[in-house]
Amino acid sequence: MTKEEKYAALLPQVKALCEGESDMIAKMANVSALLHQEFGFWWTGFYRVNVERGMMNDEQAAAPGNSSFNTQHSSLILGPFQGPLACVHIGYGKGVCGTAWKERRTVVVPDVEEFPGHIACSSESRSEIVVPVFHGDDIIAVLDIDSRELGTFDAVDAHWLEQVAREL
Ligand code: SME
Repeated sequence: MTKEEKYAALLPQVKALCEGESDMIAKMANVSALLHQEFGFWWTGFYRVNVERGMMNDEQAAAPGNSSFNTQHSSLILGPFQGPLACVHIGYGKGVCGTAWKERRTVVVPDVEEFPGHIACSSESRSEIVVPVFHGDDIIAVLDIDSRELGTFDAVDAHWLEQVAREL
């Protein structure tokens, strides 16, 4: 089976898991388990945007979609995941996850050693993809997947994982 075929088979399962379920943690838990199990990734999980009350900094206030001036999106916090232990807090614009959040786009990293500021939660990780989870215009979380091999992720993964993220 090609990875396109795997993703195509998996997407209806993701839809079924998420349909009619409003609890985000439960959905993230099952979606990370499904992806992890099907593909045998090294680490598969979510970081949630940790919303705190307060003033945004200038950079955050300037980002499209950040309209609520007294809400501070201060950091990402570890959510449901499968795999080895991971760091708990990631700052705005920090690492691959914080970059995907800040730049509001999927980030594919073929070699983590070539990504300036990469946060090495596990020294085994060699390549990575991070996909933002949008609710309307807001990013509520990122889906982060790590591989122990170089160059695991490409535009195919980005395309399908963005569709997975839309189901949450
Ligand atoms: N490598 C990520 C940190 C999270 S772990 O990979 C689980 C990053 O640079 O944001």
